[in-house]
Amino acid sequence: MAKYEQAERLQKLPPYLFVRLEKLAAEKRAEGMDLIDFGIGDPDLPTPEIIVKALQEAVAINKNQKYSSSQGEKDLRVAVAEWYKKRFDVDIDPNTQVCITLGSKEAIFNISQAFVECEDTIIAPSPGYPVYSGASTLFNEAKCVKIPLKEEKKWLLDVSDCPTGARMLYINYPNNPTGATCDIPYLKGVYDWCQKNKTILCLDNAYSEMCYDGYQAPSILQVGPDAVEFGSFSKTFSMTGYRLGYAVGHPELIAGLIKCKGQIDSGAPIFIQKAGIAALNLYPEDGRIPKEVADHMAIYAERRKVLVEGLRELGFDVPMTMGTFYVWFNCGMKSEDFTKKMLDLGIIVTPGNGFGESAEGYIRMTVTESVSRIKEALARMKNGKY
Ligand SMILES: Cc1ncc(COP(=O)(O)O)c(C=O)c1O
Repeated sequence: MAKYEQAERLQKLPPYLFVRLEKLAAEKRAEGMDLIDFGIGDPDLPTPEIIVKALQEAVAINKNQKYSSSQGEKDLRVAVAEWYKKRFDVDIDPNTQVCITLGSKEAIFNISQAFVECEDTIIAPSPGYPVYSGASTLFNEAKCVKIPLKEEKKWLLDVSDCPTGARMLYINYPNNPTGATCDIPYLKGVYDWCQKNKTILCLDNAYSEMCYDGYQAPSILQVGPDAVEFGSFSKTFSMTGYRLGYAVGHPELIAGLIKCKGQIDSGAPIFIQKAGIAALNLYPEDGRIPKEVADHMAIYAERRKVLVEGLRELGFDVPMTMGTFYVWFNCGMKSEDFTKKMLDLGIIVTPGNGFGESAEGYIRMTVTESVSRIKEALARMKNGKY
């Protein structure tokens, strides 16, 4: 028995998916294997230079080296509100409807600590980003009901499958891991259901700007004000390591989040928030995706095309989705078995069942490798008969 037993509630959690994968990959690397990595969703492309410059300038200024506040700096909150106007044509109050967060992961966790009681129910999609069902139920001792998403329903959560009386529901479109996207009528259906059932609706919109072929992801605030939406600088601007995001929505939900964060953190570093302002200000008045983001998306689009078409040639049925940088497909065997076979070929993929049991048999591949490395991986698969 360990000297310091972890609390039971922590012991109950499985190890975070990517920690397990990193360990397996590290073993292969130590054996000297050249690994082609389609595993974790971390952009390989650099942060646009203009954002890095803004950060460099900001960090040298004494007042930017102090504590921020748990709600975040006013100028970034204003920039977020202006961005919502440009991008979604919705008006939000930067004083009461915006909270700056340490990436969106933190907000997804803290919102449930702020509003969910012990024994309350949280609805999480399965497959889904692991934080909805893991960390969100960790310290409030809530119950999580996982609702299976199905390929035949285009991976859209069907509210008619959900229990009534739940305190909170998370949805995420554009979706990790499936790449599925939704439209405003779909969001309206979920919004109305949550209103009727007094369930707090959380839309994780971390991939709102990662879209292809002219598709633009909607915001829940285009449907109505009574919800909370999480956004992130991580994927849009290749800023995962900066840990910067925002929550917007109903003032009472934002107030609860700020109160909860006030006990835990003192806000994102001010100089990083200044970089966030530079990032959002790249958007023109008409809300079109700026060149810096569009250039990155063009690279992901090309890689995605090469990977999807290559996998199709190998006999897999792979959809060309409209959002995220994930390719998601049924591998025709257990996810874990396929993942291990791929690892033997020096290719890291993510087993779909790591995002929820209902995704057994599926695989996620992130297009964070160059086209030539993707072609190399496809050749390894062809020769190795995966
Ligand atoms: C669906 C989803 N939401 C939220 C996040 C967290 O992003 P961050 O905390 O970097 O903003 C991720 C990261 O991969 C994600 O896939």
